[in-house]
Amino acid sequence: MSIDPVLQMRGVSKQFGAIHALTSVDFSLERGEIHALCGENGAGKSTLMNIAAGILQPTSGEILLDGAVTTISLPASAQKLGIGLVHRRSRCARMRP
Ligand SMILES: Nc1ncnc2c1ncn2[C@@H]1O[C@H](COP(=O)(O)OP(=O)(O)OP(=O)(O)O)[C@@H](O)[C@H]1O
Ligand SMILES: [Mg+2]
Repeated sequence: MSIDPVLQMRGVSKQFGAIHALTSVDFSLERGEIHALCGENGAGKSTLMNIAAGILQPTSGEILLDGAVTTISLPASAQKLGIGLVHRRSRCARMRP
């Protein structure tokens, strides 16, 4: 028996003007899985996760939740669908002078 992924991103592309941040990316996540998304600086990791979290809209491609094509238009919509994003902070603590 195969289990449908809880989240699928199919053929997701994102352009910022002339910059192709993502080109036809496929990503799939089954319930309970933990993934590490690795890549060099500028590879598009944040862009992909920002799309999953409704912060950015893809230029093309689709997102499926539990097998249904879904538009995640806002971070609040993502949260209602159970998708949250914890942003990296480059500086977590203020250094004492
Ligand atoms: N708002 C934006 N406007 C223009 N270009 C952008 C924007 N956000 C990201 N980019 C570009 O898209 C590409 C992917 O960037 P992204 O931040 O997703 O990469 P990353 O893998 O998260 O990098 P890092 O490891 O440095 O966090 C880079 O070329 C980046 O300069
Ligand atoms: Mg990043």
